[in-house]
Amino acid sequence: MRHLGLRASASSPCRVRVRPCASAPPLSPSRLQQRVTFPATAVRATRASSPHHRLDAVRHNDAEAIPERLAVVTGANKGVGLEVCRQLALQGVTVILTARDEKRGKDATETLRHESQLPNIIFHQLDIRDDDGVTSLAWYIKNRYGKLDILVNNAAVSGIVADEEGLKALNIDAETWTSGRAANLLKEVFQNANDEALNCLNTNYYGCKRVTEALLPLLKLSTSGARIVNASSLASELKRMPNEKLRNDLSNIDVWDEDRIEAVLNTFLEDLKSGRLEEAGWPMMLPAYSVSKMVINLYTRIMARRYPEMRINCVRPGFVKTDINWNLGVLTPEQGARGPVMLALLPDDGPTGCYFDQTEMVNVW
Ligand SMILES: NC(=O)c1ccc[n+]([C@@H]2O[C@H](COP(=O)([O-])OP(=O)(O)OC[C@H]3O[C@@H](n4cnc5c(N)ncnc54)[C@H](OP(=O)(O)O)[C@@H]3O)[C@@H](O)[C@H]2O)c1
Repeated sequence: MRHLGLRASASSPCRVRVRPCASAPPLSPSRLQQRVTFPATAVRATRASSPHHRLDAVRHNDAEAIPERLAVVTGANKGVGLEVCRQLALQGVTVILTARDEKRGKDATETLRHESQLPNIIFHQLDIRDDDGVTSLAWYIKNRYGKLDILVNNAAVSGIVADEEGLKALNIDAETWTSGRAANLLKEVFQNANDEALNCLNTNYYGCKRVTEALLPLLKLSTSGARIVNASSLASELKRMPNEKLRNDLSNIDVWDEDRIEAVLNTFLEDLKSGRLEEAGWPMMLPAYSVSKMVINLYTRIMARRYPEMRINCVRPGFVKTDINWNLGVLTPEQGARGPVMLALLPDDGPTGCYFDQTEMVNVW
């Protein structure tokens, strides 16, 4: 963990009072204390180098470093996530760009900081499947900033092993792809491997849940109003669920909680293992991905009900040309980021518990 350029141990925190920056809203003394918990070694080192003015410098730097709005974006080293970081930073939000791969994440951050001249972007490594990594991010934010305002759960995988050459050769147009009618064609080039499906659910749903739960205590301390944006997909639309009973169930938010979601995901994995996906009525176009996004929609609604003071929504960015769809998409990441960014910056009286297709609210359940 780095604080003000000094290596520090987490074991013995020491509290220092500082004034907030001019643009920040007024803070109560208890909130102020929460925001400026420095590890003791950092403060000791500063005091040792020069008694008074160095400590003032620490106060000043830290006051500047507490932003009015702080966002975390997952899976942000490329694609839509990277562009969400850029657009949020352009709006004055301080953004923690996270990525599972340290080099890819740092490179992306450097590009935005220097080429796009956005110094308000910071990198933090995060694999959303890793409990310890998620805890470490929460710890970092708590100690460095004391709060979080925006969480964009963007990271995801397709859950498929694809024969990319074969896929290109099929030459599927955007309309056929997005309508879901390509499922039969894709059987030739997509392999629904158990490991990939498991990884897909662990990333797209459990990863989102893991990060959300770890950062919720910090979102509750938001001074500008907490926003959570979950990346969803057309594949989440309930009309694409062939199993009628499950389709009806999924549309009734009253009966769902996280335990029930887990039970459904376990049934899906059992059906996949025993080769019964089609027979059991699961969606056959990107099965694990579709199911993961259907439960993301449910999770969004559950959380929106549980935390009515926050604005919690899910969004389909559009059919964007990125790696997740083997670059078959037609929109640019810049276009794809508009919906998530709009939802990240919703006013206090904005909608919550809703699904957006890019920037438009639609009913998919
Ligand atoms: N593109 C579309 O047409 C489209 C349509 C509907 C929905 N979406 C959704 O939009 C979101 C962004 O997708 P995209 O199009 O930008 O795809 P992308 O370019 O493939 O980006 C996906 C990002 O997620 C990251 N990621 C994957 N597993 C991760 C993990 N375990 N921990 C942390 N990061 C992880 C990837 O990192 P690596 O680089 O390390 O792999 C990458 O940064 C996804 O939720 C996707 O489902 C996209």
